[in-house]
Amino acid sequence: MKRALYVSKAMVPFSYIDIVSLTKQSAARNRQYEVTGYLCYSNNTFFQYIEGEKPVVNRLLHQLREDKRHRFIAEVASDNHDVRLFSSWAMKYLTCSDLTEVHLDGFVSNSILYLKDNFSDKGIKLRLLWRQVMLISQMHDAHLARI
Ligand SMILES: Cc1cc2nc3c(=O)[nH]c(=O)nc-3n(C[C@H](O)[C@H](O)[C@H](O)COP(=O)(O)O)c2cc1C
Repeated sequence: MKRALYVSKAMVPFSYIDIVSLTKQSAARNRQYEVTGYLCYSNNTFFQYIEGEKPVVNRLLHQLREDKRHRFIAEVASDNHDVRLFSSWAMKYLTCSDLTEVHLDGFVSNSILYLKDNFSDKGIKLRLLWRQVMLISQMHDAHLARI
């Protein structure tokens, strides 16, 4: 399994409806390939986490990098990851209020800052980013428990 996180800037305007339909299309494709994860969007910035079999995630990352609707500004990837954290989210659109629920409202903007700051203290920043993924995965598990 491989998991990857990236931050990208939107190159075209995305309305709420655009994001909802992008997430729906992505989730339908991801179900076919057993890719799971989430997508946040705030201030023209996407923050996406994807996980799945390594070749599938690599192919999707390639497609995402080629997609002219946005431009990658940072990417964090990790291999050797056995556990699927977001088994029931083929691609979950996380809104700002979803993030506020788990006290991660500054999540997207903070992450951009961590990544942009010339990667100084890279280890600490990466740990923070993965910690945020873990917090969101607790939110995923709590949603599952409520079903
Ligand atoms: C922000 C963003 C997130 C996306 N997330 C996914 C995704 O999770 N899964 C997916 O299959 N496509 C996703 N896409 C669409 C892909 O970039 C690409 O258009 C799609 O995989 C089709 O690729 P193809 O035209 O080369 O077949 C996303 C696009 C954007 C702009």
